[in-house]
Order: sequence, then C-alpha cells, then structure tokens
Amino acid sequence: MSVIALKSPHIKVTVVDVNEQKIKDWNDENLDKLPVYEPGLKEVVAEARGRNLFFSTDIEKGIKEADMIFISVNTPTKTFGIGKGMAADLKYVELCARQIAEYATNDKIIVEKSTLPVRTASSVKRILSEQNNGIKFSVLSNPEFLAEGTAIKDLLNADRMLIGGEDTPEGKEAIEALVEVYANWLPKDRIITTNLWSSELSKLTANAFLAQRISSINALSALCEKTEADIDEVAKAIGSDSRIGSKFLKASVGFGGSCFQKDILNLVYLCRYFGLPEVADYWEQVIILNDYQKHRFASKIVHTMFNTVTDKKICFLGWAFKKDTNDTRESAAIYIADKLLDDHANIHVYDPKVTEERMYEDINYLNTRSEALNAEKLTMEKDPYEAAKDAHAIAVITEWDEFVTYDWQRLYDSMKKPAFVFDGRNILDREALRSIGFEVYALGKM
Ligand SMILES: NC(=O)c1ccc[n+]([C@@H]2O[C@H](COP(=O)([O-])OP(=O)(O)OC[C@H]3O[C@@H](n4cnc5c(N)ncnc54)[C@H](O)[C@@H]3O)[C@@H](O)[C@H]2O)c1
Repeated sequence: MSVIALKSPHIKVTVVDVNEQKIKDWNDENLDKLPVYEPGLKEVVAEARGRNLFFSTDIEKGIKEADMIFISVNTPTKTFGIGKGMAADLKYVELCARQIAEYATNDKIIVEKSTLPVRTASSVKRILSEQNNGIKFSVLSNPEFLAEGTAIKDLLNADRMLIGGEDTPEGKEAIEALVEVYANWLPKDRIITTNLWSSELSKLTANAFLAQRISSINALSALCEKTEADIDEVAKAIGSDSRIGSKFLKASVGFGGSCFQKDILNLVYLCRYFGLPEVADYWEQVIILNDYQKHRFASKIVHTMFNTVTDKKICFLGWAFKKDTNDTRESAAIYIADKLLDDHANIHVYDPKVTEERMYEDINYLNTRSEALNAEKLTMEKDPYEAAKDAHAIAVITEWDEFVTYDWQRLYDSMKKPAFVFDGRNILDREALRSIGFEVYALGKM
C-alpha cells in the first residue's frame, strides 16, 4: 500500500488495522520503529505518509470512505478443528467481509490481496451480498508476489501483476480500475488479467513451485555428502540450463517464512478435499523434505560434537527466516534451537534485526518445555562476538551479509577448542576457516 501511495499521489491510501500498537508504530516519527523491517521501506513511508498515505485504527471510516478495499489480513494455518494443521484459517477474511458489508454505504471493489484457497472469492461475495441493501460489490483477486527482504524492489519492478475478476461487464470494469492503479508505474504488458479462480490458484502454486526447488536442492545436498559431489557445483551445473535457471538452488537449513509452508499445506488440503490424494502426496513431500533438512542439520551438530551438546554453549548467527527481514515466522532457527535445547545445549543468538521478545515468543509457542527453562538455556545477545565467546560451536542459520565479514580469527580465539562452525547457508569460505583452525561443516560439501 505504501508503494501504491508513493507511485500514485492522486490516490488516497488509508491502511487500517485492528492492532493499535502496529498503527501507532506505523505513525511513529522515528522511522526505525516501523513494525516491518524491509530495505527501502522507510524512505517510501517518509515520502508518502501524511501526503496521501495514512495509517489508522478507524476501520468503519476507512471502509465508508473507500472506493476500493484491499483485504490483506493474515490467513494462517488452522490450529484446531476440521483441516487442523493444513487448511487456511479464513476467519479474519470472513470478518473483514462482514465488516465491509456492515459499514459500506456505496458500491465498492473488494480486492483479495491475502493468499487464499481457490474459490474463496465466492464465499466473500456471498457474505457481501447477504446484506441486501442495494450496494454492489465486485470481487477481484490480486495476489501479492513480493518476497520479504526485497519487497520494495519486487513491487517497484514486479515481473508481473496478476488480477483475476469475473467475466461480466461489472467484473471487467473492476479489473480495469485496478489495472489503472498499477499502470501508474508498471508497463501494461506486465499486468496479467485472468478469471478469479486462475488468479487464486496461481498464487498458491507459485509458492509451491518455489519451495519445491528448495526442497529438491536440499534433498540433493544429503546425497552429495554421501558421494563427494559438491552441492554448489551441482547447483551451478543444473542452474546453467536455461530451461531450469539458477534461482532458488542454494542449499540451506530449509525454507521458513510465513508463506511457503502454509500455502503448500493449504494446497495439499485442497487436493485432498477435491479427492486427489496422489496430487496431495506429491506436494506434501516438499514439506516433509523441508522438515527433514532442519532435523538433519540439528542432528549433524550433535553427532559432530562427540554426540553431546549438553551444557555446551552454541552460538547461533541469525534467527530471522532469511536475511534483510525481521520476520521469524517458521524460521528454521526455531526448530533447530528446539532440538538442541532437547539435548540441554545453551544457545546464544545474535541477529541484527530480531528482538529478544520475538525469539522467546517463537520458542515458547512450540510449547516443548517450560518458559523458565527456555529463558535459562536460550539467550539473545546484542553483539556477535559476545554470542561466540567461550562457545563450542557457531551455527550460521540466516544468510545475513555481515556474517561473512566478521573477524573470524577473533571469533576463533575466543572459543573453546576444538571450535566448530556449522554453515547452514553455505556462505562462508571453508578453506579460510579451516586454515584458522575451525572444524567446518557445510551442507552438501566435504
Ligand atoms: N508476508 C509476505 O511476504 C506475504 C507475501 C505475499 C502474500 N502474503 C499474504 O498476505 C496476507 C497477510 O500476510 P502478512 O504477512 O502481512 O500477515 P500479518 O499477520 O503480518 O498482517 C496481517 C494484519 O492484519 C490485521 N488484521 C486482522 N484482522 C483484521 C481486521 N478484521 N481488520 C483489520 N485488520 C486486521 C492484523 O492485525 C495484522 O496486523 C497473508 O494471506 C499472506 O499469505 C504475505
């Protein structure tokens, strides 16, 4: 919404949220307090906020004033009831639709921006039309393809913008209105229009295809370790085939983030729902492999360190699910830490953007052990050298650029010997580290 406001000064954009603290932070004069860390975001907000970009908790007024409403609420995986652990929880979307139906006083275009299971638009339309007060609603699907960490860049220079709508005169008019918004900065040939169902399904499956590439290369990393092949060499060889391409072929501790897992689980659930068990199993394997990779990395740490990490200090570099974001949802760090805490390790974490509070929320959410024990065995440090001091091992969990530039000799000197490095992102120079004296493990490498 900030980028739409930046590029369309003639459009008034109001972001409303039920979370008062978040809105307060979005309005804070100190731009370092914005709730989301994203390179380039604060510059965008600095320019548009107060001009044509506003943040508010007044949902009723926001709905009444708008001609077009983007539903961008969270759609997490259900944690209870039918579809538990798989289906998307659509209660927030439904609530939004009900609020819109209640407060609207003129015709509106409703845009599904959240990632939703295919055919949700029919439910949204049904709720909106129940009110029967003569107001017309057009529902569009406009899924968001940005990636966290590169969101501003992805939006300013989107590969494509997808807009799905109904094949009726009103549907076409609504599609055209939204095309005009994006045409303020994107060439029209990058704005793809489809029917509603193709648009809804394309978002889920785009994430499934991306995650599948990560699971494929991670599966091969395990095979490389058995065969003396080198995963980066294999990835380069595969990726230089122009039909395959080089992106998303970096071996890692596994994907995290709020989208991949939830969207694939949602896809698996949909396939089962529609009576397609083979298709469901096919996609579910992407998740199984991802869990395996996190598990494999944690086990590797324990086995390499003489089969025990009990009371050993382990330094984690990174807690975010990837670099350039403060988002930790489904981060591999949480699951790796959990497994090592089961073995009574002492974990000291350094991450440039993640808060201590967030880290404890993440680990306590798993509910594996008491919060007191988590507080005792897991510590957030403000300085990486402090996190590594007297540690037996360093595990690189997130690929933050700054980790590569650390003084690794200094880290080595301050650690217990033998000093181990487990590079869960394959970003470090193994030979250089070995010449300092480290014992180094990298995924899919000797
Ligand atoms: N995070 C991403 O990179 C990304 C990328 C593409 C698509 N998506 C999709 O976008 C959606 C939102 O994701 P997110 O990461 O921004 O989630 P989020 O949880 O960070 O934000 C959702 C916000 O909606 C607010 N909210 C919930 N119900 C509300 C209501 N009735 N009225 C007003 N506000 C309400 C919440 O308070 C919260 O601040 C999801 O469907 C997700 O799959 C996310």
